Amino acid sequence: TQAFSLKNDGLYAENVNIESLAKEYGTPLYIYSRSEFENRWLAFDSAFGSQPHLVCYAVKTNSNIAVLNVLAKLGAGFDIVSLGELERVLKAGGDPKKVVFSGVAKQSIEIRRALEVGIRCFNLESHAELDRIQAVAQEMDLIANISIRVNPDVDAKTHPYISTGLKDNKFGVDITTAPELYADASACSHINPIGIDCHIGSQLTEITPFVDALERVLALKNTLSEMGIDIHHLDLGGGLGIQYTDETPPAIKDYIQALLTKLNDTSIEVIIEPGRAIAGNAGVLVTEVEYLKPTEHKNFAIIDAAMNDLIRPALYQAYQEIVSVVPRTDGHEAQWDLVGPVCETGDFLGKDRMLNLKAGDLLAVKSAGAYGFTMSSNYNTRPRAAEVMVKGDQAWLIRPRETYEDLMGSEVIIQD
Ligand code: LLP
Repeated sequence: TQAFSLKNDGLYAENVNIESLAKEYGTPLYIYSRSEFENRWLAFDSAFGSQPHLVCYAVKTNSNIAVLNVLAKLGAGFDIVSLGELERVLKAGGDPKKVVFSGVAKQSIEIRRALEVGIRCFNLESHAELDRIQAVAQEMDLIANISIRVNPDVDAKTHPYISTGLKDNKFGVDITTAPELYADASACSHINPIGIDCHIGSQLTEITPFVDALERVLALKNTLSEMGIDIHHLDLGGGLGIQYTDETPPAIKDYIQALLTKLNDTSIEVIIEPGRAIAGNAGVLVTEVEYLKPTEHKNFAIIDAAMNDLIRPALYQAYQEIVSVVPRTDGHEAQWDLVGPVCETGDFLGKDRMLNLKAGDLLAVKSAGAYGFTMSSNYNTRPRAAEVMVKGDQAWLIRPRETYEDLMGSEVIIQD
Protein backbone atom coordinates (compact mmCIF):
# COMPACT_ATOMS: atom_id res chain seq x y z
CA THR A 1 0.00 0.00 0.00
CA GLN A 2 1.10 3.53 -0.73
CA ALA A 3 1.08 5.76 2.34
CA PHE A 4 -0.95 8.54 0.68
CA SER A 5 -2.59 8.27 -2.72
CA LEU A 6 -5.28 9.95 -4.76
CA LYS A 7 -8.26 7.72 -5.54
CA ASN A 8 -11.56 8.47 -7.34
CA ASP A 9 -13.16 10.12 -4.34
CA GLY A 10 -10.12 11.95 -3.07
CA LEU A 11 -6.92 11.51 -1.08
CA TYR A 12 -6.41 8.38 1.01
CA ALA A 13 -4.13 7.48 3.88
CA GLU A 14 -3.44 3.81 3.08
CA ASN A 15 -7.03 2.56 2.53
CA VAL A 16 -8.77 5.19 4.61
CA ASN A 17 -10.54 8.17 3.06
CA ILE A 18 -9.01 11.37 4.45
CA GLU A 19 -12.16 13.45 4.03
CA SER A 20 -14.03 11.08 6.34
CA LEU A 21 -11.24 11.22 8.92
CA ALA A 22 -11.42 15.02 8.83
CA LYS A 23 -15.21 14.85 9.35
CA GLU A 24 -14.80 12.51 12.28
CA TYR A 25 -11.88 14.17 14.07
CA GLY A 26 -11.95 17.75 12.81
CA THR A 27 -9.09 19.85 11.48
CA PRO A 28 -6.22 20.66 11.72
CA LEU A 29 -5.46 16.94 11.85
CA TYR A 30 -2.21 15.01 11.61
CA ILE A 31 -2.59 11.64 9.87
CA TYR A 32 0.18 9.04 9.89
CA SER A 33 0.66 5.86 7.90
CA ARG A 34 1.78 3.07 10.18
CA SER A 35 3.00 0.98 7.23
CA GLU A 36 5.23 3.79 6.07
CA PHE A 37 6.84 4.11 9.52
CA GLU A 38 7.39 0.34 9.61
CA ASN A 39 8.68 0.00 6.07
CA ARG A 40 11.14 2.87 6.40
CA TRP A 41 12.58 1.63 9.70
CA LEU A 42 12.83 -1.90 8.27
CA ALA A 43 14.56 -0.53 5.15
CA PHE A 44 17.33 0.89 7.34
CA ASP A 45 17.54 -2.26 9.43
CA SER A 46 17.72 -4.70 6.54
CA ALA A 47 20.17 -2.62 4.49
CA PHE A 48 22.90 -3.46 7.03
CA GLY A 49 22.81 -7.16 6.18
CA SER A 50 25.24 -9.01 8.46
CA GLN A 51 27.00 -5.85 9.74
CA PRO A 52 26.36 -5.49 13.50
CA HIS A 53 24.09 -2.46 13.79
CA LEU A 54 21.33 -0.67 15.67
CA VAL A 55 18.86 1.72 14.07
CA CYS A 56 17.99 4.29 16.76
CA TYR A 57 14.99 6.33 15.63
CA ALA A 58 15.43 10.01 16.57
CA VAL A 59 12.51 10.53 18.95
CA LYS A 60 12.38 14.31 18.48
CA THR A 61 11.17 13.82 14.92
CA ASN A 62 7.76 12.45 15.90
CA SER A 63 7.42 11.31 19.48
CA ASN A 64 3.82 10.19 19.83
CA ILE A 65 3.97 7.04 21.97
CA ALA A 66 1.90 5.12 19.39
CA VAL A 67 4.63 5.85 16.83
CA LEU A 68 7.37 4.84 19.27
CA ASN A 69 5.48 1.66 20.16
CA VAL A 70 5.11 0.64 16.50
CA LEU A 71 8.87 0.98 16.06
CA ALA A 72 9.70 -0.65 19.41
CA LYS A 73 7.73 -3.72 18.30
CA LEU A 74 10.07 -4.02 15.32
CA GLY A 75 13.08 -3.95 17.68
CA ALA A 76 14.03 -0.32 17.15
CA GLY A 77 16.52 1.56 19.27
CA PHE A 78 15.94 5.20 20.11
CA ASP A 79 17.99 8.40 20.07
CA ILE A 80 16.76 10.72 22.81
CA VAL A 81 17.70 14.26 23.82
CA SER A 82 15.81 14.72 27.07
CA LEU A 83 14.35 12.96 30.08
CA GLY A 84 10.92 13.57 28.58
CA GLU A 85 11.86 11.62 25.49
CA LEU A 86 13.29 8.81 27.67
CA GLU A 87 10.01 8.57 29.59
CA ARG A 88 8.14 8.42 26.26
CA VAL A 89 10.32 5.54 25.06
CA LEU A 90 9.78 3.64 28.31
CA LYS A 91 6.03 4.25 28.25
CA ALA A 92 5.91 3.06 24.64
CA GLY A 93 7.61 -0.22 25.56
CA GLY A 94 11.02 0.65 24.10
CA ASP A 95 14.09 -1.20 25.38
CA PRO A 96 16.31 1.12 27.46
CA LYS A 97 19.34 -0.99 26.47
CA LYS A 98 18.80 0.27 22.94
CA VAL A 99 18.67 3.95 23.89
CA VAL A 100 21.41 6.47 23.11
CA PHE A 101 21.24 9.87 24.78
CA SER A 102 22.33 12.89 22.68
CA GLY A 103 22.18 16.63 23.40
CA VAL A 104 24.50 19.35 24.71
CA ALA A 105 22.91 20.02 28.09
CA LYS A 106 22.10 16.84 29.97
CA GLN A 107 21.06 17.66 33.52
CA SER A 108 22.11 15.56 36.53
CA ILE A 109 18.54 14.39 37.05
CA GLU A 110 18.41 13.20 33.42
CA ILE A 111 21.74 11.39 33.70
CA ARG A 112 20.63 9.72 36.92
CA ARG A 113 17.40 8.40 35.44
CA ALA A 114 19.19 7.20 32.29
CA LEU A 115 21.73 5.29 34.40
CA GLU A 116 18.98 3.89 36.58
CA VAL A 117 17.11 2.36 33.63
CA GLY A 118 20.36 1.24 32.02
CA ILE A 119 20.58 3.03 28.69
CA ARG A 120 23.15 1.89 26.20
CA CYS A 121 25.27 5.02 25.80
CA PHE A 122 25.58 8.74 26.46
CA ASN A 123 26.71 10.79 23.48
CA LEU A 124 28.62 13.47 25.30
CA GLU A 125 29.53 16.81 23.90
CA SER A 126 31.96 18.58 26.26
CA HIS A 127 34.48 18.15 29.04
CA ALA A 128 32.09 19.67 31.55
CA GLU A 129 29.54 17.04 30.63
CA LEU A 130 32.11 14.26 31.11
CA ASP A 131 32.76 15.56 34.63
CA ARG A 132 29.08 15.61 35.42
CA ILE A 133 28.38 12.11 34.11
CA GLN A 134 31.39 10.79 36.05
CA ALA A 135 30.10 12.46 39.24
CA VAL A 136 26.58 11.06 38.91
CA ALA A 137 27.80 7.57 37.98
CA GLN A 138 30.21 7.54 40.91
CA GLU A 139 27.47 8.58 43.29
CA MET A 140 25.29 5.73 42.00
CA ASP A 141 28.22 3.32 41.90
CA LEU A 142 27.52 2.48 38.25
CA ILE A 143 29.62 2.63 35.09
CA ALA A 144 28.40 5.00 32.36
CA ASN A 145 29.06 3.98 28.76
CA ILE A 146 29.90 6.99 26.67
CA SER A 147 30.81 8.05 23.19
CA ILE A 148 32.06 11.51 22.32
CA ARG A 149 30.29 13.50 19.67
CA VAL A 150 32.92 14.85 17.32
CA ASN A 151 32.66 17.44 14.61
CA PRO A 152 34.24 15.95 11.53
CA ASP A 153 34.01 19.41 9.95
CA VAL A 154 32.36 18.32 6.71
CA ASP A 155 29.93 20.59 4.91
CA ALA A 156 26.55 18.93 4.89
CA LYS A 157 25.31 21.43 2.26
CA THR A 158 21.99 21.84 4.00
CA HIS A 159 20.12 24.75 5.60
CA PRO A 160 22.43 26.56 8.08
CA TYR A 161 19.95 26.11 10.94
CA ILE A 162 20.03 22.32 10.58
CA SER A 163 23.69 21.87 9.65
CA THR A 164 25.55 20.68 12.73
CA GLY A 165 28.87 19.10 11.74
CA LEU A 166 30.87 22.30 11.24
CA LYS A 167 33.40 23.81 13.64
CA ASP A 168 31.43 26.94 14.40
CA ASN A 169 28.36 25.53 16.10
CA LYS A 170 27.52 24.49 19.63
CA PHE A 171 27.46 20.76 18.98
CA GLY A 172 30.15 18.20 19.66
CA VAL A 173 33.87 18.67 20.04
CA ASP A 174 36.51 19.38 17.42
CA ILE A 175 37.65 16.04 16.04
CA THR A 176 41.30 17.09 16.36
CA THR A 177 41.01 17.61 20.13
CA ALA A 178 38.82 14.55 20.72
CA PRO A 179 41.74 12.19 21.61
CA GLU A 180 42.56 14.30 24.70
CA LEU A 181 38.96 14.11 25.87
CA TYR A 182 38.94 10.33 25.28
CA ALA A 183 42.12 10.04 27.35
CA ASP A 184 40.48 11.99 30.17
CA ALA A 185 37.34 9.86 29.86
CA SER A 186 39.20 6.59 30.10
CA ALA A 187 40.99 7.88 33.18
CA CYS A 188 37.63 8.38 34.92
CA SER A 189 36.73 5.69 37.45
CA HIS A 190 33.06 5.42 36.41
CA ILE A 191 33.22 6.09 32.67
CA ASN A 192 33.63 3.53 29.93
CA PRO A 193 34.30 5.03 26.48
CA ILE A 194 32.74 2.56 24.02
CA GLY A 195 31.91 4.59 20.93
CA ILE A 196 32.50 7.53 18.66
CA ASP A 197 29.52 9.66 17.72
CA CYS A 198 28.84 12.27 15.07
CA HIS A 199 25.81 13.91 13.46
CA ILE A 200 26.59 16.27 10.62
CA GLY A 201 23.21 17.79 9.86
CA SER A 202 19.72 17.11 8.64
CA GLN A 203 17.94 16.84 5.28
CA LEU A 204 21.16 15.86 3.48
CA THR A 205 20.52 14.91 -0.12
CA GLU A 206 23.97 13.63 -1.01
CA ILE A 207 25.93 10.62 0.22
CA THR A 208 29.42 12.18 0.06
CA PRO A 209 29.31 14.18 3.34
CA PHE A 210 28.28 11.02 5.24
CA VAL A 211 31.13 9.02 3.74
CA ASP A 212 33.64 11.83 4.39
CA ALA A 213 32.51 12.01 8.02
CA LEU A 214 32.85 8.24 8.40
CA GLU A 215 36.36 8.38 6.98
CA ARG A 216 37.39 10.91 9.63
CA VAL A 217 35.69 8.95 12.37
CA LEU A 218 37.55 5.80 11.29
CA ALA A 219 40.85 7.69 11.44
CA LEU A 220 40.00 8.77 14.99
CA LYS A 221 39.19 5.17 15.88
CA ASN A 222 42.71 4.18 14.79
CA THR A 223 44.29 6.98 16.79
CA LEU A 224 42.34 5.88 19.85
CA SER A 225 43.30 2.27 19.40
CA GLU A 226 46.99 3.31 19.33
CA MET A 227 46.29 5.03 22.64
CA GLY A 228 44.91 1.75 24.00
CA ILE A 229 41.27 2.86 23.85
CA ASP A 230 39.08 0.25 22.19
CA ILE A 231 36.02 1.52 20.39
CA HIS A 232 33.07 -0.89 20.10
CA HIS A 233 30.66 1.15 18.02
CA LEU A 234 30.46 4.06 15.62
CA ASP A 235 27.32 6.22 15.86
CA LEU A 236 26.95 8.09 12.59
CA GLY A 237 23.90 10.12 13.59
CA GLY A 238 20.88 10.82 11.42
CA GLY A 239 20.45 13.27 8.60
CA LEU A 240 19.32 11.41 5.50
CA GLY A 241 16.98 13.71 3.59
CA ILE A 242 13.60 13.07 2.01
CA GLN A 243 11.78 14.30 -1.06
CA TYR A 244 9.63 17.31 -0.17
CA THR A 245 9.28 18.46 -3.77
CA ASP A 246 12.04 17.97 -6.32
CA GLU A 247 14.92 16.89 -4.07
CA THR A 248 16.55 13.61 -5.00
CA PRO A 249 17.92 12.13 -1.78
CA PRO A 250 19.73 8.81 -1.99
CA ALA A 251 17.71 5.67 -1.32
CA ILE A 252 18.13 4.23 2.18
CA LYS A 253 19.88 1.12 0.90
CA ASP A 254 22.35 3.11 -1.21
CA TYR A 255 23.20 5.34 1.74
CA ILE A 256 23.83 2.38 4.04
CA GLN A 257 25.70 0.53 1.30
CA ALA A 258 28.06 3.50 0.89
CA LEU A 259 28.81 3.38 4.63
CA LEU A 260 29.40 -0.37 4.51
CA THR A 261 31.76 0.03 1.55
CA LYS A 262 33.77 2.60 3.47
CA LEU A 263 33.88 0.27 6.48
CA ASN A 264 35.46 -2.33 4.24
CA ASP A 265 34.57 -5.42 6.27
CA THR A 266 35.43 -3.91 9.64
CA SER A 267 32.93 -5.77 11.80
CA ILE A 268 32.41 -2.89 14.22
CA GLU A 269 28.86 -2.14 15.33
CA VAL A 270 27.26 0.80 13.52
CA ILE A 271 24.54 2.88 15.16
CA ILE A 272 22.51 5.37 13.14
CA GLU A 273 19.91 7.87 14.32
CA PRO A 274 17.54 8.52 11.43
CA GLY A 275 14.44 10.61 12.06
CA ARG A 276 13.12 12.48 9.06
CA ALA A 277 13.88 9.65 6.62
CA ILE A 278 11.55 7.39 8.62
CA ALA A 279 8.80 9.82 9.66
CA GLY A 280 8.76 12.62 7.09
CA ASN A 281 6.66 11.11 4.36
CA ALA A 282 4.65 9.02 6.79
CA GLY A 283 2.44 11.99 7.71
CA VAL A 284 0.22 14.74 6.36
CA LEU A 285 -1.42 17.70 8.05
CA VAL A 286 -5.02 18.15 6.97
CA THR A 287 -6.52 21.62 7.16
CA GLU A 288 -9.72 23.31 6.06
CA VAL A 289 -10.01 26.52 4.06
CA GLU A 290 -11.87 29.00 6.28
CA TYR A 291 -11.99 32.05 4.04
CA LEU A 292 -10.86 33.13 0.61
CA LYS A 293 -9.47 36.65 0.56
CA PRO A 294 -8.45 37.70 -2.91
CA THR A 295 -6.80 41.12 -2.98
CA GLU A 296 -5.35 43.28 -5.73
CA HIS A 297 -1.84 42.02 -5.07
CA LYS A 298 -2.27 38.53 -3.71
CA ASN A 299 -4.85 35.82 -3.19
CA PHE A 300 -4.94 34.65 0.37
CA ALA A 301 -6.58 31.41 1.40
CA ILE A 302 -6.97 31.50 5.15
CA ILE A 303 -6.78 27.99 6.53
CA ASP A 304 -7.38 26.60 10.00
CA ALA A 305 -3.81 25.30 10.42
CA ALA A 306 -1.09 27.75 11.35
CA MET A 307 2.55 28.17 12.22
CA ASN A 308 1.83 26.84 15.69
CA ASP A 309 0.77 23.53 14.10
CA LEU A 310 3.60 23.31 11.56
CA ILE A 311 6.42 25.80 11.95
CA ARG A 312 8.83 24.59 9.27
CA PRO A 313 7.69 27.00 6.53
CA ALA A 314 7.88 30.00 8.90
CA LEU A 315 11.15 28.98 10.55
CA TYR A 316 13.19 27.63 7.64
CA GLN A 317 11.25 28.86 4.61
CA ALA A 318 10.71 25.13 4.12
CA TYR A 319 8.64 24.05 1.13
CA GLN A 320 6.05 21.34 1.64
CA GLU A 321 3.63 20.23 -1.07
CA ILE A 322 0.00 21.18 -0.49
CA VAL A 323 -2.78 19.34 -2.34
CA SER A 324 -6.55 19.32 -2.35
CA VAL A 325 -8.02 16.38 -0.45
CA VAL A 326 -10.92 16.22 -2.92
CA PRO A 327 -9.78 17.86 -6.16
CA ARG A 328 -12.48 20.09 -7.71
CA THR A 329 -13.97 19.38 -11.11
CA ASP A 330 -15.64 22.82 -11.29
CA GLY A 331 -13.97 26.24 -11.13
CA HIS A 332 -10.33 26.86 -12.02
CA GLU A 333 -6.88 27.10 -10.52
CA ALA A 334 -5.41 30.33 -9.23
CA GLN A 335 -2.30 31.27 -7.31
CA TRP A 336 -2.85 31.27 -3.53
CA ASP A 337 -0.88 32.05 -0.40
CA LEU A 338 -1.99 29.63 2.30
CA VAL A 339 -1.98 31.55 5.55
CA GLY A 340 -3.06 30.66 9.06
CA PRO A 341 -5.05 32.50 11.76
CA VAL A 342 -1.99 33.43 13.86
CA CYS A 343 -1.17 37.14 14.19
CA GLU A 344 2.22 37.05 12.46
CA THR A 345 3.16 37.87 8.90
CA GLY A 346 5.35 34.76 8.95
CA ASP A 347 2.31 32.59 9.51
CA PHE A 348 2.06 30.76 6.20
CA LEU A 349 2.21 27.13 5.18
CA GLY A 350 2.72 27.78 1.49
CA LYS A 351 3.10 30.67 -0.93
CA ASP A 352 2.12 31.11 -4.58
CA ARG A 353 0.53 27.68 -4.87
CA MET A 354 -1.60 26.84 -7.89
CA LEU A 355 -4.82 25.42 -6.45
CA ASN A 356 -8.50 25.27 -7.31
CA LEU A 357 -10.13 26.34 -4.06
CA LYS A 358 -13.42 27.21 -2.41
CA ALA A 359 -14.05 27.97 1.24
CA GLY A 360 -14.69 24.76 3.14
CA ASP A 361 -12.27 22.71 1.02
CA LEU A 362 -9.80 20.40 2.71
CA LEU A 363 -6.09 20.59 1.95
CA ALA A 364 -3.30 18.19 2.88
CA VAL A 365 0.16 19.53 3.67
CA LYS A 366 2.45 16.68 2.74
CA SER A 367 5.71 15.41 4.30
CA ALA A 368 4.45 16.53 7.72
CA GLY A 369 5.30 13.38 9.66
CA ALA A 370 8.69 14.74 10.80
CA TYR A 371 9.18 17.90 12.90
CA GLY A 372 5.48 18.68 12.53
CA PHE A 373 3.52 17.93 15.67
CA THR A 374 6.68 17.78 17.82
CA MET A 375 7.50 21.40 17.02
CA SER A 376 3.94 22.61 17.47
CA SER A 377 2.94 25.03 20.21
CA ASN A 378 -0.07 26.69 21.80
CA TYR A 379 0.73 30.17 20.50
CA ASN A 380 -2.41 32.30 20.27
CA THR A 381 -3.98 29.79 22.72
CA ARG A 382 -4.57 27.35 19.92
CA PRO A 383 -5.12 23.78 21.07
CA ARG A 384 -2.68 21.42 19.41
CA ALA A 385 -4.05 19.28 16.60
CA ALA A 386 -5.36 15.74 16.93
CA GLU A 387 -3.25 12.86 15.62
CA VAL A 388 -4.54 9.75 13.86
CA MET A 389 -2.64 6.63 12.83
CA VAL A 390 -3.85 4.52 9.91
CA LYS A 391 -2.97 1.02 8.80
CA GLY A 392 -4.78 -0.71 5.95
CA ASP A 393 -8.43 0.23 6.40
CA GLN A 394 -8.15 0.87 10.15
CA ALA A 395 -7.67 4.22 11.88
CA TRP A 396 -6.84 4.97 15.51
CA LEU A 397 -6.99 8.31 17.30
CA ILE A 398 -3.55 8.42 18.95
CA ARG A 399 -3.90 11.88 20.48
CA PRO A 400 -7.15 13.79 20.82
CA ARG A 401 -7.27 17.47 20.00
CA GLU A 402 -6.32 19.51 23.07
CA THR A 403 -9.11 21.15 25.03
CA TYR A 404 -9.06 24.62 26.58
CA GLU A 405 -8.95 22.88 29.94
CA ASP A 406 -5.71 21.20 28.79
CA LEU A 407 -4.34 24.64 27.96
CA MET A 408 -5.42 26.59 31.04
CA GLY A 409 -6.37 24.00 33.64
CA SER A 410 -3.16 24.17 35.63
CA GLU A 411 -2.77 27.93 35.59
CA VAL A 412 -3.45 29.80 38.82
CA ILE A 413 -4.94 33.21 39.54
CA ILE A 414 -3.19 34.96 42.43
CA GLN A 415 -5.55 35.39 45.40
CA ASP A 416 -4.76 38.62 47.23
N1 LLP B 1 20.66 12.70 15.86
C1 LLP B 1 20.89 13.91 16.37
C2 LLP B 1 21.94 14.08 17.40
C3 LLP B 1 20.14 15.02 15.93
O1 LLP B 1 20.39 16.23 16.42
C4 LLP B 1 19.13 14.84 14.95
C5 LLP B 1 18.33 15.96 14.47
C6 LLP B 1 18.91 13.53 14.46
C7 LLP B 1 19.70 12.49 14.93
C8 LLP B 1 17.86 13.23 13.44
O2 LLP B 1 18.13 13.87 12.22
P1 LLP B 1 17.28 13.54 10.91
O3 LLP B 1 17.56 12.10 10.56
O4 LLP B 1 15.85 13.75 11.21
O5 LLP B 1 17.79 14.48 9.92
N2 LLP B 1 13.59 20.82 12.93
C9 LLP B 1 14.41 20.69 11.73
C10 LLP B 1 15.38 19.54 11.83
C11 LLP B 1 16.27 19.59 13.06
C12 LLP B 1 17.16 18.38 13.20
C13 LLP B 1 17.77 18.33 14.55
N3 LLP B 1 18.54 17.17 14.82
C14 LLP B 1 13.48 20.58 10.54
O6 LLP B 1 12.28 20.62 10.71
O7 LLP B 1 13.94 20.48 9.40
